[in-house]
Amino acid sequence: MTLAALGPVLRAANAEGRAVGGLVCLGWEDARAYAHAAQTLDVPVILQAGPSCRDHTPLPVLGAMFRSLAADVDVDVVAHLDHGYTAEDCRAAIDAGFTSIMFDGSKLPLADNIAQTRAIADMAHDAGISCEGEIGFVGYAAGAESHGTDPEEAARFAAEAGVDAMAISVGNVHLQTGPGAGLDEARIADIAARTDVPLVIHGGSGVPNAQRAHLARTTPVAKFNIGTELRQAFGAALRAAVAADPDRFDRVQILRDTHEPMMQAATRALKSLQG
Ligand code: 13P
Repeated sequence: MTLAALGPVLRAANAEGRAVGGLVCLGWEDARAYAHAAQTLDVPVILQAGPSCRDHTPLPVLGAMFRSLAADVDVDVVAHLDHGYTAEDCRAAIDAGFTSIMFDGSKLPLADNIAQTRAIADMAHDAGISCEGEIGFVGYAAGAESHGTDPEEAARFAAEAGVDAMAISVGNVHLQTGPGAGLDEARIADIAARTDVPLVIHGGSGVPNAQRAHLARTTPVAKFNIGTELRQAFGAALRAAVAADPDRFDRVQILRDTHEPMMQAATRALKSLQG
């Protein structure tokens, strides 16, 4: 059993100049490939259940699935709730056996974001698990615009919200399907100079591999959330598997063909974070 909480995994990553993949899971096939890729590389991994994953599959099923995968490998596996929007979301994840919860109060005024995050971080710590918060707003490639993190607000959030990890908005955008413009390294340095809480980059797809490695090596950025590039790999693998044999109808046989491409995609993503 290598189930781990987020805090110690990220602090070790910062100390060693690397970052950990917060890999977006949508089901068994991708989550299994992520855990096995991490095992092959001998690196930790964060299996994340975000809102669309939870819409599709009940949280207790996801908690049990992540815990089962953790029991199967020798590397640290964090079972993480991504973008919990209410205390109830977060409580349900604790009850389902998750070892880390993210409370996303990024749309709230600063004082409310701090107060609500603090209460949820206390709840997480009482349960022996970790909590990630977000300051500044990370927008969407074809949707809501980002509001970059103000370094002074980040310093206050880090000091008062009691989180184990702090997600920041520094040029990152969710759902990029191709290479993006890269992150604002000056703003990251300004934030990093004011806190020692490990930093998280949401919207990791589209961040150039060289920049991921550089930030992992030289800054307290300790977690990159990566979803879209892995979902693209899964979609392509599934389409190819279906097209390969028009007579094949058994979904287990079809899905088996996604394993190797997902191992390769996860391996590429995790390697890019090793500094
Ligand atoms: P991408 O899908 O843009 O990689 O973002 C993932 C993410 O930030 C999940 O919280």
